[in-house]
Amino acid sequence: MSKTNEPETFYVTTPIYYVNDVPHVGTLYTTLAADVLARHYRAKLGAQNVLFLTGTDEHGQKIAESASKAGLTPKEFADSIVPHFKSAWDLCNISYDVFMRTTDQGHIDMVTRIFQKLYDDGHIYKGAYEGMYCVGCEKFVTDSDMVDGRCPDHPNKDLVYQKEENYFFALKKFAPLLLEKINDGEYEILPEKRRNEIYKRVEEGLEDISISRESVAWGIPVPWDTKHTFYVWVEALFNYYTATQIQEGREKFWPADLHLVGKDIVWFHACIWEALLIASDLPLPKKIFGHGFFTLNGQKMSKSLGNVISPAELVEAYGVDGARYLILTAFQFGNDGDLALSKFDEKYNADLAHGLGNLVARTAKLAEGMIFDELSTNDNSSSDSSKGLELSKKVDHAIEQLQFDKALTYIWENISAADKILNETEPWKIKDDMPARQKALEPVVELIRQIALNLQSCMPETAHKILLQFEVGKPIVVQPSYFYRTIRSAELTS
Ligand code: MSP
Repeated sequence: MSKTNEPETFYVTTPIYYVNDVPHVGTLYTTLAADVLARHYRAKLGAQNVLFLTGTDEHGQKIAESASKAGLTPKEFADSIVPHFKSAWDLCNISYDVFMRTTDQGHIDMVTRIFQKLYDDGHIYKGAYEGMYCVGCEKFVTDSDMVDGRCPDHPNKDLVYQKEENYFFALKKFAPLLLEKINDGEYEILPEKRRNEIYKRVEEGLEDISISRESVAWGIPVPWDTKHTFYVWVEALFNYYTATQIQEGREKFWPADLHLVGKDIVWFHACIWEALLIASDLPLPKKIFGHGFFTLNGQKMSKSLGNVISPAELVEAYGVDGARYLILTAFQFGNDGDLALSKFDEKYNADLAHGLGNLVARTAKLAEGMIFDELSTNDNSSSDSSKGLELSKKVDHAIEQLQFDKALTYIWENISAADKILNETEPWKIKDDMPARQKALEPVVELIRQIALNLQSCMPETAHKILLQFEVGKPIVVQPSYFYRTIRSAELTS
């Protein structure tokens, strides 16, 4: 609870994704992490006190080019892509509260007002810009950014020479304030290594940035000079704020608790966005977490290599919760790593089909028709209950630290513990004395309930099914197994 006795709130965002691409496992990666956090905090703070925002970034040259290739207007093109995102997120059980589109009129109006104020307050001035532009990144690339004269992130795209009159945001003067605020912990950049990178870069000095384009028609017009449109990045960043102001009742969520982003865009969020907010007299988000990038079977994921995987393909192979589990446990969130699809079958079979699935199926079979109440107060079960509490504490802490793999490891330790009890007590050998068999099964059922309770954020559907199957005071019913052995990765990697 906060000091004012207002209930605490939690607001998490994903980047808004460019509509020149349909969702893939890269965009799912960030979105899934945000979903786990949103579910966790809804259970802790109440659904009405949590806001989970995702959406699409729809302006700029890149989108205009893709639309023209498709023979559509940019807005028609965006309209055709947005349903792909919404259906992918629905398929993966992503429980977003707001899907923001930068073409929403509410966003456009508010961005227009905010930038007019920035201009009136003297933070924006007119100047000339000359430089090499990467349409892939939607940003100017300086000589020191270039590798062999090309953009390091889009080596296949030619850089475009651009010279035009632009409006500039006076970023440079904010460097000392940014450093001060990072030092004071007014906003946090995580993990530590990314904080250090950003800090060093700001310390080395900032340049003012161009925030408008005369040559790009597809964007929000600059209100005081409508030949110009706003640079897509600066306008898009404001979505995190406008989403809380457009609809009544959401104002309480600003400032955001956490912006989840990939490491490629931490700079925009940890420097430019913060400076824009300071200049606008708006409170700063509390945390920016830049996660790592993954390769697929050791290779960079790219359209030209033809190895891009869609959320639907993963769900087809492993089910929703199978896909969620395999992504969340692949490597530590925050680091770079590999999604070793070639090992997904092995892992799915060991941890889900054999591990969790088998434990639940065989326990339900042994306990069919039995009713297990809430733990009684005898010594044995009260120690079970305190173990349950200990597990929840560990899992909650890990999730709040964004250590999803660790949270799942703790839960899986309980699967091993339950298997061990079954193997030691061998309840299947107790054939004539059902109360004795029930007694033997009690700690196992308790562990299964604890496992399911703690799985709710990471694997919501499975957790829900198990909790129903092992509901307190209801006879246990045998259900079809939740996970079957599979051999699907060949289809994904071929
Ligand atoms: N539109 C901007 C964000 C604006 S936010 C105000 C953008 N969009 S994007 O469609 O390119 O999405 C990029 C994000 O996708 C990355 O920051 C990251 O979250 C995610 N990923 C894309 N490929 C990825 C990997 N291979 N690995 C991990 N995450 C990846 O940038």
